[in-house]
Amino acid sequence: MADRLMRRLAELATLSDMPGGLTRLFLSPAHKRAVALVEGWMREAGLETHVDAIGSLVGRRGNGKTLLLGSHIDTVRDAGWYDGNFGVLAAIEAVQAAGDLPYGVEVIAFGDEEGVRFPQTLSGARAVAGTFEPAALAGRDADGIAMGEALAAFGGDPAGIASLARQPDEVLGYIELHIEQGPVLEAENLAVGVVTAINGASRFAVVVTGDAGHAGTVPMAMRRDALAAASEMVLAVEAVGRSMPDLVATVGAIAVHPGAPNSVPGLVKFTIDVRAPVDAARHEAVLAITNAFDRIAGSRKVDLSMTQTHDAPAVACSGRLRDRLAGAVKANGIVPRFLPSGAGHDAMAVADLCPVAMLFVRCKGGVSHTPAESITPEDAQTAVDVLVEFLRKFARNDD
Ligand code: GLV
Ligand code: MN
Ligand code: MN
Repeated sequence: MADRLMRRLAELATLSDMPGGLTRLFLSPAHKRAVALVEGWMREAGLETHVDAIGSLVGRRGNGKTLLLGSHIDTVRDAGWYDGNFGVLAAIEAVQAAGDLPYGVEVIAFGDEEGVRFPQTLSGARAVAGTFEPAALAGRDADGIAMGEALAAFGGDPAGIASLARQPDEVLGYIELHIEQGPVLEAENLAVGVVTAINGASRFAVVVTGDAGHAGTVPMAMRRDALAAASEMVLAVEAVGRSMPDLVATVGAIAVHPGAPNSVPGLVKFTIDVRAPVDAARHEAVLAITNAFDRIAGSRKVDLSMTQTHDAPAVACSGRLRDRLAGAVKANGIVPRFLPSGAGHDAMAVADLCPVAMLFVRCKGGVSHTPAESITPEDAQTAVDVLVEFLRKFARNDD
């Protein structure tokens, strides 16, 4: 079974919007093709499928209260093969292997976990949790296409998103398998680990406006160089990130206008991503960054706008589901290792609906969000075996 899973992961990784690597953004042509490919595998596994109003692929089996499983099939730019995709395909394998279960089960391939294309993120999971903000549909990508337009072109239904919200009494919980994206399991020679909590995250879109001009003629003292100001801001973000334990702060994307060697930059847009296990620390860091930006903008006489695009509180995994997962890990002969998640996951949005838990699988070198992501077939098999054990025990112990 691990052979089939690894083969499918490799095949799915060929569906990319860019040649020469894996880039599969939310609602893109590659995303559409990925939905069709994964849908075929869901049907092979005996699941009834549909694509919901926000472009998530849902495969269902059984009746009654439902246990949700899943992860995402969108990727970052120049991504690895396993982030998100592993959780979806491993869940399909586990449901197929588990056989009949006395409760409903759904595997969901969410479409917007990475938040790379539009300002909003976690859209699919938020829709299911009933926390999707319709205003997000107006957010535009780098080509000026609004999420609502892209969704309609994809075959989705912006007006139908509100009806995707599940009722808490319809669902039993949500379980997500994911690569660790960090080094802990590899360092401790463990195939899998059980997640305790997911760090909270804030993201901002920043625009710095100065004066564009001729790089040869505008004297240094008369410039309002937006990139020079933004550069100081980038370093301020890094300094804040370094100032508190367990806090991380990143400027990951930046665009310079007009962007020519002989032009003084007049406008710079960049992103900020701040994460911490404790929400108060994250809020303190955001305040420190805002204060530093105001000071820099004031001293350099540039205009500044800072818009929050994402705010997700830290989420604790359910003690009950976590213990069940730990029991399934133990049943597979592995000592359960509990660890927090620095990366964000669909689970953090689904947590607004129901109890959530996650199982991490070891990845080579702890690296992720690069083509160097790697897992072994043996570890993939172990993760699926743990989920199968979980599903069967859950059947016996939960009404
Ligand atoms: C998703 O991978 C995130 O943590 O941003
Ligand atoms: Mn992911
Ligand atoms: Mn990711």
